[in-house]
Amino acid sequence: MTLDSETRQYLTDTREEARTRLLTWFERYARELPWRDTTTPYQVWVSEVMLQQTQVETVRSYYRRFLGRFPTVQALAVASQEDVLKLWEGLGYYSRARSLHKAAQIIVNTHNGELPADITALRRLPGIGPYTAGAIASIAFGIPAPAVDGNVRRVMARILAMPTPSQALLEDAVGLWMPEDAAGPFTEALMELGATICSPRLPRCQLCPWQALCRARELGRQEAVPAPRPRKAIPHYDVAAAVTLRNTPNKASTDVLVAQRRQDDMLGGLWEFPGGKREAAESLPEALRRELREEMGIEIEVGESLTTVKHAYTHFRITLYAFICTLTNGDPRCIECQNFKWASTAEVRALPMAVTDRKIAGALEAWLEAPSSEVIDVSA
Ligand code: ADE
Repeated sequence: MTLDSETRQYLTDTREEARTRLLTWFERYARELPWRDTTTPYQVWVSEVMLQQTQVETVRSYYRRFLGRFPTVQALAVASQEDVLKLWEGLGYYSRARSLHKAAQIIVNTHNGELPADITALRRLPGIGPYTAGAIASIAFGIPAPAVDGNVRRVMARILAMPTPSQALLEDAVGLWMPEDAAGPFTEALMELGATICSPRLPRCQLCPWQALCRARELGRQEAVPAPRPRKAIPHYDVAAAVTLRNTPNKASTDVLVAQRRQDDMLGGLWEFPGGKREAAESLPEALRRELREEMGIEIEVGESLTTVKHAYTHFRITLYAFICTLTNGDPRCIECQNFKWASTAEVRALPMAVTDRKIAGALEAWLEAPSSEVIDVSA
């Protein structure tokens, strides 16, 4: 789908007015965000990657901490993946962190440590898609390249009163309105408009600098455009996790078995309490015994329930049942993991883990501290 000549003409005729109105509004009403006062390419890149799937309010503190720890591309490139994942812990979509880290190494090794000021070269880096390339190119380098994320899509679909516009059409439309001499502010202002005024439901049209240019508003169809994407049913899985304690002389020094997920798996590189999905007709303890046999080559006894954690990922939901377990036979090895260790609770705290496993780790600490708990001695 491309812009028809009437729409193209409309955008061309309104270009100056659109630019002036938006940029004036942005100067006056832009929120203060930690990445707003920088055009340093590395900083813009880190912020845009964090903002890909995460709300502004959550990103603020992660962005500050990440740049505090890795202030330059070089610092990020030489860091260990575990350190990078640890700083990303809780932000989700961890492939973003793995890609950022890989891309930093490529930038140091093949681009002299500088992000390339070029859309095509940016696109070749891991984790940089069309949106992020456009955002970095325009904000950091002033290149008039469109960056169409979900917010911008909604704003422009409403301007054009198009319920299902293609990405290419929207990029064309943004490109027509984008000023050569203020590409960065225009990109940020457009995102700001989508985030603060042109909301999915009950858009605040009276406050919108583009209200007079908006065809959906003119038709009274601003809430119906863009058409909502059909939602797929989200499956639910029961998952069991083994908190396997090693024979230790006292419970203060209990070690627990943790495994590191394989690089290419979901949550790759993160540490977890090993386990897996319950199959139909399997009990949770049966599932857990099977998983530990398959993944780590050990036999375990499944004891009391430690905690239950619910979590929603993008494409499925899980209920995660954690059990206190004991090793009954075999020495752990990685059959379906990248690494494993027997770790103290202090060591577990320092490992990068997904939120679900972090909650289990918290429950374990509480369980170990509770006066009634006993550490199971498997040496007997
Ligand atoms: N969402 C994506 N990029 C953003 C930015 N630079 N500022 C605010 N929200 C954003």
